[in-house]
Amino acid sequence: MPRTDFLKETRIHDFSYNKKNELCCEKVPLRKILEKTGSPAYIYSSKTILEHLGKLQRAFRSVRPLICYSVKANANLAILKTLVRKGAGLDIVSGGELFRAGKVKCPGRKIVYAGVGKKDGEIRAAIRARILLFNVESVPELERINEIAKKMRRRVDVSLRINPNVDPHTHDYITTGKAETKFGIDFDRAREVYLASQKLTHARLSGVHVHIGSQIETGEPFVEAFRKILSFIDELEAAGVRIRFLNLGGGLGVIYSDENPQTADEFARKILPLFKKRKFQIIFEPGRFIVANAGVLAAKVLYLKETGVKKFLITDAGMNDLIRPAFYNAYHAIWPVMKRKDAKRWVFDVVGPICESGDFFAKGRELPEMRPGEFLAIMTAGAYGFTMSSNYNSRGRACEVLVKGGSFRVVRKRESYQDLVRGERI
Ligand code: LLP
Repeated sequence: MPRTDFLKETRIHDFSYNKKNELCCEKVPLRKILEKTGSPAYIYSSKTILEHLGKLQRAFRSVRPLICYSVKANANLAILKTLVRKGAGLDIVSGGELFRAGKVKCPGRKIVYAGVGKKDGEIRAAIRARILLFNVESVPELERINEIAKKMRRRVDVSLRINPNVDPHTHDYITTGKAETKFGIDFDRAREVYLASQKLTHARLSGVHVHIGSQIETGEPFVEAFRKILSFIDELEAAGVRIRFLNLGGGLGVIYSDENPQTADEFARKILPLFKKRKFQIIFEPGRFIVANAGVLAAKVLYLKETGVKKFLITDAGMNDLIRPAFYNAYHAIWPVMKRKDAKRWVFDVVGPICESGDFFAKGRELPEMRPGEFLAIMTAGAYGFTMSSNYNSRGRACEVLVKGGSFRVVRKRESYQDLVRGERI
């Protein structure tokens, strides 16, 4: 059975058709952008981004959380600046992301730093930037941070990332809170570390961190994990360990097609009762929730190829631009940039120009007929789209465009051939 595209023109994003049947981002027709930038192009709505940040801020206002947007989802400086300006902090996982945080002048006290493999230079740079917390994933890492902080004569705050062994019911590759994954530390080991933490002269174990996975559609796995975490904190506090920060991670699911994930309000209604009368600073690290529906990847149809068994739409974007379908078999809705009323509907595979059979955006998808030269939009591509793109097949990465109301700006230039060979020597 072919799948039709379900993603609706609704409250979740600001992409919709105008009276001329042109797909617009906020008030700007994509055609107008693409005429200027060429294709493929990532196009983002700043309104959608801010609305999603606002939804979380409002839903949780009673506990005044620090919302640290997860840079890995979309690291474009203009997007980071848009969020930081509205009070968001940043969740980083590398020295490179710390560098980006610096570029948008995110205050160190709003930065948290996760990841299982932090290098010495990265740790030093984060200490220098006076970040709020290291989210630490192993005992050797904790000892290393303590040692480096000591050499720098600084005290740093640290959260242990707990692996609560909860199944978030999402794709295996983005499941992180089950015992067999490489992430975090189990309760027994973590308890020992907190209780022995006085031995650490320069790392203060003042927080607890948990992130169980991504694209989680219901509240239950969160509630299960957070309950376990809270009783663990009770135990620690009874033993005299003071916890000041509780970082609940990211992971909120979004609508790609016909999912029905919890809204920020529904999430808050489930979660907030758990935290009544608790004194710690709550931190969230949402990525996808904020940017996924705020972006599309626009591409041009190059050819329509018919074989004995299939019709292929071949586009000028490839898996190097958006790897999610190839990597996770992820579903992205595909909309024409110009809707033609008379267009017949056919079942297509939408594919890119790359030399791999995995280079597809949709398989067996019922779509309106699109002609070579016309543009299409691959929807819900704002998160883990550009950031996971590559130069495979020596293809320059796409440009990125940020729309605000009736105007737009290229916020990252398309890569040139010169960009492709920068730093190489013969
Ligand atoms: N915090 C930590 C520690 C994380 O590892 C992640 C995501 C987040 C926060 C943000 O999670 P979000 O709110 O975006 O679910 N490339 C995959 C997703 C990988 C997620 C990795 N960690 C995809 O395209 O679906």
